[in-house]
Amino acid sequence: MATQMFEGRGHAAVYQKYRFAPGEELQRAILTYLKEKGANPPELVVDVGCGSGQGTHFLAEHFKKVVGTDISEAQIQEARDTSSSPNVSYLVCPAEELPFEDASVDLLAAFTAAHWFDIEKFMREANRVIKPGGCVAISTYTLDMSLHYGNCSEKLTKIYKEVWDVLSKHSHSKVKHVLENYKEIFEALPFSDKKRITDIYDKIPMTVAGVVGYLESVSQYQVLLKNDPEAAKSLLQDTEKRILETMGVSSRETPLEFWVRHVCVLGYKGL
Ligand SMILES: C[S@@+](CC[C@H](N)C(=O)[O-])C[C@H]1O[C@@H](n2cnc3c(N)ncnc32)[C@H](O)[C@@H]1O
Repeated sequence: MATQMFEGRGHAAVYQKYRFAPGEELQRAILTYLKEKGANPPELVVDVGCGSGQGTHFLAEHFKKVVGTDISEAQIQEARDTSSSPNVSYLVCPAEELPFEDASVDLLAAFTAAHWFDIEKFMREANRVIKPGGCVAISTYTLDMSLHYGNCSEKLTKIYKEVWDVLSKHSHSKVKHVLENYKEIFEALPFSDKKRITDIYDKIPMTVAGVVGYLESVSQYQVLLKNDPEAAKSLLQDTEKRILETMGVSSRETPLEFWVRHVCVLGYKGL
């Protein structure tokens, strides 16, 4: 069954502001795979579960026509409000019922979204819409991020992990796919030519405000906010205070690095 977790306007606005785009190494892994496979020169690329367009912009830089789709109207509204590329359009629709003709899509991508889908139905739909000679790229960043700043990276990462110990109590059962490095999603992809990479690392430039905003955007925080708003708000306030104190700075705009690991499932639908 489809899961709707990103429906609120407030959540979508935070999401748009703080979620980062696919990093360079993830981009490279996808583009290299397409080249290796000698896949169709992509005409139509679809970004499923596009959110407010984090991955869609990357795709639009490389491909002729990109359609971002998402089940959440609020996310698509944010995407439309921030996109200016003439080769991008957005649609509200579930991943399990894509409004594309059979064998019409050259590349079907999903960034940090596939674990929310009904995987069996989505895979059937992906197989239907992808052209022979087309590809799929399904990725997610994992939860084992680390924070890096001067000589206090270890302490900052410990703070970050402690916050996740609290947040993970509010995880949806589907987050297990992320914890399992998309193993089940890989196995469900109905192509014989496929691979799963679990060690793509990207260093994402952030600020203290960006890290706190990212935490605010995760589904676990949004569940806590709904159930116990006071606890949720003070968790973020305390976290920001602890991070600033550890770094020995006062500005929320102080830059630091967020190191993320990506898992990527890549597949080629033979001719
Ligand atoms: C964690 S966000 C990822 C957004 C974006 N791709 C990114 O890289 O940040 C997951 C997105 O998947 C969407 N989503 C969840 N279930 C969906 C479904 N069944 N069909 C289409 N979109 C779905 C949510 O609305 C949300 O925008």
